[in-house]
Amino acid sequence: MKRKPNARPRRKTAARAIDFQTDWTYAPAPESTGHIQLRERYGLFINGQFVNPKSGKYFATTNPANEKKLAEVAEAGIADADRAVRAARQAYETVWSRLSAAERGKYLYRIARIIQERAREFSVIESMDGGKAIRESRDVDVPLVAAHFFYYAGWADKLAYAFPGKTPKPLGVAGQIIPWNFPLLMAAWKIAPALATGNTVVLKPAETTPLTALKLAEVFRDADLPPGVVNIITGGGATGAALVNHPDIDKVAFTGSTDVGKLILKALAGRKTKYTLELGGKAANIIFEDAALDQAVEGIVNGIFFNQGHVCCAGSRLFVQESVADVVVEKLKERMETLIVGDPLDKNTDIGAINSRMQLDKIQAYIKIGRDEGADFYQTSCKLPAKGYWCAPALFTNASQSHRIVQEEIFGPVLAIQTFRTIEEVLEKANNTPYGLSGGVWTDKGAKIFKMTSKLRAGVIWANTFSKFDPGSPFGGYKESGVGREGGLQGLMPYLQLA
Ligand code: NAI
Ligand code: MG
Repeated sequence: MKRKPNARPRRKTAARAIDFQTDWTYAPAPESTGHIQLRERYGLFINGQFVNPKSGKYFATTNPANEKKLAEVAEAGIADADRAVRAARQAYETVWSRLSAAERGKYLYRIARIIQERAREFSVIESMDGGKAIRESRDVDVPLVAAHFFYYAGWADKLAYAFPGKTPKPLGVAGQIIPWNFPLLMAAWKIAPALATGNTVVLKPAETTPLTALKLAEVFRDADLPPGVVNIITGGGATGAALVNHPDIDKVAFTGSTDVGKLILKALAGRKTKYTLELGGKAANIIFEDAALDQAVEGIVNGIFFNQGHVCCAGSRLFVQESVADVVVEKLKERMETLIVGDPLDKNTDIGAINSRMQLDKIQAYIKIGRDEGADFYQTSCKLPAKGYWCAPALFTNASQSHRIVQEEIFGPVLAIQTFRTIEEVLEKANNTPYGLSGGVWTDKGAKIFKMTSKLRAGVIWANTFSKFDPGSPFGGYKESGVGREGGLQGLMPYLQLA
């Protein structure tokens, strides 16, 4: 078997329990890109067509694994955002709000099925544009995207059952702004409930990952979705702001940083526009001494290292009960050494590229901060590719509550570890954060799970697992992690007037 050029060199760690005498590196197994068709340049998707931006501006989206340009996309200005909102308004008034709910559902089912048919293409483009490992985009993102459309398709004609005694009515036009960590999944989370409830949409994907949203426009066309029901405008922060500031938007749905969430709240103050905000997080993953430790270690790895830690619900703070701390950290380091960092399109890759140079700089700055603050640093020894943006999985032990690496969102494969003795102590520490999005509890005792889940101030808490999603489960946070819920029955509410 040939050694992969970027695979980790064999390394002898004194503490390693298993002796890897055999060469366990895999031969490269890259996913083919032969079936991918990308245009050189994309316009804005408005009223069912790709149109040139009135701004006349375009920018490049690149592949963070090799820094190569993938395509140019339009940069929508104020006039373009206006055009998209007008198209959405017209589609709302003349078509979408007049359709029967069952008909709306049929479109959503159709969209879900086409996404399933094109799943391979979508996962490859997602990995190329955003850097995440194909294993993630193929096995997690894209199946969940289809599942969300199926799930909300089912609700479209059952809204009266969902909210008995009420007459649910759509709001009108929804402006939706999404981030780069789950580009297609966030588009599905936003678009599916909006359409099921009878609203029309203007969606703005993130500037580093616009391609799968633009490919989704092709799906809408193939599904014969009436023109203007979903419009997609690309661009950066200014484009997002133009959408938020548009006076004819009835609802804003935003996922991204807490800083931008605050800006959006300011912009919406005094307006009757409804909003949901899904912002940052600093989840506590809590391991008790009675937990199944090997399983917990897998959960930690899944929670912070897969997907490069680019997850708002990432288990970025680890609390281990003191009596098992040494063994957990040792097991964790051992497991980390086996993680393959490299080509996102390779099916063996565990951890792909960091999404952008900016994000990599931010992660590296935090690693420096953590070291300067005095926490003990460990990073795996894997060799990173020369081109592209990469960060080997890393952890800090002996971190303390006051450290910035414990308090602030890093959004990278960097874990901050603390220990605890009692339930009360860990609850106090875990809740001592400006965020409240998610958390994890690992224990053998059901009673402990219930105690923890009732006292942890987080929107989603996993028990003996981590980072698992289902369209039927609501997702969202407390405190600076945001306002409102997405997913499940609760995810319908922000798109409805419930009189
Ligand atoms: P960001 O919040 O700037 O970007 C998210 C989306 O908002 C993008 O589509 C962006 O174009 C848009 N946007 C930016 N400024 C805007 C404005 N003034 N008005 C309306 N829309 C605007 O996030 P960014 O800069 O990409 O990442 C910075 C940090 O944010 C990350 O390091 C991470 O800590 C956090 N983040 C959290 C996410 C989450 O899911 N909670 C997702 C992405 C980033
Ligand atoms: Mg890109």
